Amino acid sequence: MRRLLALGLGAALLIAAGPALAQNQIVIKFSHVVTPETPKGKGADKFKELAEKYTDGRVKVEVYPNSQLYKDKEELEALQLGAVQMLAPSLAKFGPLGVREFEVFDLPYIFPDKKVLQAVEQGPVGKKLFEKLETKGIVGLAYWDNGFKVMTSNKPLRKPDDYKGQKLRIQSSKVLEAQMRALGALPQVMAFSEVYQAMQTGVVDGGENTPSNVFTQKMHEVQKYLIATDHGYIGYAVITNKKFWDSLPQDIRAQLEKAMKEATDHANAIAQKENDDAMAAIKASGKTEIITLTPEEKKAMRTALLTVHKEMESRVGKELMDAINKESSAAGY
Ligand code: LMR
Repeated sequence: MRRLLALGLGAALLIAAGPALAQNQIVIKFSHVVTPETPKGKGADKFKELAEKYTDGRVKVEVYPNSQLYKDKEELEALQLGAVQMLAPSLAKFGPLGVREFEVFDLPYIFPDKKVLQAVEQGPVGKKLFEKLETKGIVGLAYWDNGFKVMTSNKPLRKPDDYKGQKLRIQSSKVLEAQMRALGALPQVMAFSEVYQAMQTGVVDGGENTPSNVFTQKMHEVQKYLIATDHGYIGYAVITNKKFWDSLPQDIRAQLEKAMKEATDHANAIAQKENDDAMAAIKASGKTEIITLTPEEKKAMRTALLTVHKEMESRVGKELMDAINKESSAAGY
């Protein structure tokens, strides 16, 4: 009885203290769809650590990985409604929000390497895309890397012809849809959290993703082949709700910007190694066969997929594509 009373008293005290604590502490819910062991997962955890440190605990960051709170589409809605304060969706997922220019990043083979990609993100193109977000009540805080994509399937997809009739999962991007159609495949838009099961049960034949995402979601355990195509890129925009961001005290916002800058450097510094390690782990698992394309096979894929650039010009904007191509030329490509 005495214990019960003590518990009751404790609870009453907690309730009394609750509002005071809540008033002083700003909570940032950061939701994402991948595991904590990915470049994005590690970037989010780094941001939490630094944001809490630099604000002396006045800000608490709660990271919700692995679609624990929301799936792809819902998380964007949740951000706009203010149910979460931070996300890092892949650049392929902004079309449904009405900012289709982000899909320029999905164009196959548009980036010859990550240096060009980062120059584009840090330059006028990256800035312009973030300006577009503001009209949707969203502030773009940073670009985070993941890596170049591989294909996975139960069929050894070596040449464009092999893709005919394959049901391949894609993210919700019209450019990715056009890319799969250019190969004669049947694109299936699906939330990331549903992909493993869809592969396991045969709802889809395969998909495309980075080695890090394939490995951490165990997709390699339910796919017979992984084809090292490097045909496209997956990266992220870290975003926040504009109303929330603007309402923060200036000193807090400055500390959060500092934390974001350092978390970004961290995420971008580890992304390549995370993907290389994931590829090695997939290989070591022996659960899927890794196919390396010959130079001729690579060329055939490239020829088939480059047709998508012209087709998608009016959707993503010729100006943006030209700006990226200019950056590639400047880098000597
Ligand atoms: C996917 O949906 O395939 C990826 O974009 C998931 C992610 O956030 O990396």
